[in-house]
Amino acid sequence: MPKQLITLIVNGRRTEVAVEPRWTLLEMVREELRLSGSKEGCGTGDCGACSMIVDGRLVTSCLMLATQVDGRDVVTIEGLAKNGRLHPVQQAFIDTGGVQCGFCTPGMIMAAKSLLDRTPSPTLEEVREGLAGNLCRCTGYAKIYEAVMHAANAGK
Ligand code: FES
Ligand code: FES
Repeated sequence: MPKQLITLIVNGRRTEVAVEPRWTLLEMVREELRLSGSKEGCGTGDCGACSMIVDGRLVTSCLMLATQVDGRDVVTIEGLAKNGRLHPVQQAFIDTGGVQCGFCTPGMIMAAKSLLDRTPSPTLEEVREGLAGNLCRCTGYAKIYEAVMHAANAGK
């Protein structure tokens, strides 16, 4: 299958990638760009482990084709820290014990960032809704919700 050259912004950097038409955004980011923070939990849009932000909107990157992001702006978990400093949401997850496993945490943080970009002072109910697409199969959500509320309060 011939590859197609696409140009996009990834974590603030203009990037050209030759992609196969069948590749998902997640595959391209992990396999071609070697950014392995986003995980494939289900591959069917159900778990949120692959969450990225495309043109300011949270997406499940396992359900998007790489060719769909031609000309667009993509932010992955690797793009949140700036100048050696963690993003406030990442720091809040550490401070509250919301970092659980490496599989669900990147997606949780991306969903939390997306929520707080839209709703800087969410209620607990809004936090639950904002992270409803992100599943933890083992530990639970209390510390994660606490981390998001903490990040919101830190941003006030
Ligand atoms: S891997 Fe994309 S939603 Fe589960
Ligand atoms: S799936 Fe990551 S802590 Fe449960």
